[in-house]
Amino acid sequence: MKNILIIVAHPKEDSFSFAMADTYRQSSEERGDTVEILDLYRDSHQQPFFTYDNANALEVDKSMKYYQDKIAKADEIVLVFPYWWGSFPAILKNFFDWNLSRGFAFHYVNSRPVGLLIDKRVKVFTTTGAPTFIYTITGANRRLKNMIREQIVSFCGMKLDGCYIFGGVDTSGKNTDKILEAIRAGR
Ligand SMILES: Cc1cc2nc3c(=O)[nH]c(=O)nc-3n(C[C@H](O)[C@H](O)[C@H](O)COP(=O)(O)O)c2cc1C
Repeated sequence: MKNILIIVAHPKEDSFSFAMADTYRQSSEERGDTVEILDLYRDSHQQPFFTYDNANALEVDKSMKYYQDKIAKADEIVLVFPYWWGSFPAILKNFFDWNLSRGFAFHYVNSRPVGLLIDKRVKVFTTTGAPTFIYTITGANRRLKNMIREQIVSFCGMKLDGCYIFGGVDTSGKNTDKILEAIRAGR
């Protein structure tokens, strides 16, 4: 049985991102896992845009402690977001800036970074407006996956279990049943 933390970064609660998160939550709970959904836009511990006096020695305030406790407790972290400007929404970046802090998510040994979140696995579910074949041939999907794996997940010592980028998703809802079925089937 796993503790799963699903982090959703979408401004709308009735969005497809929440449908994906809810589908993954349901199928995980059916397997016996414990799941928490963290709704970044509406959570009670909102964090301002990241700023610091000394980024290497951030004072762990109430909000950081609250979010870092959730990360620490999770065996699996699932990121769910719409693909915006080649990346993820700024609110998720801000979440990483604050909470994957030095001393919690990584530290330095002989001037080399060493990840500290070594027992955790990560999955990503995201949707693009562009069709899959366009983002495959232009390398956009590969860039996102590599960036998340190298710059965030591996840097912090975690393992990327899957980065699922579903293309051709827009507000018309076409395509979406198949995607939810794939997530339910174990993606
Ligand atoms: C601010 C913003 C930036 C976006 N940037 C991209 C982009 O770079 N590439 C892309 O394919 N789609 C882009 N889109 C489209 C979204 O990825 C698409 O609408 C979303 O995945 C659909 O899911 P939703 O209905 O749950 O929002 C962008 C949408 C917004 C609002």
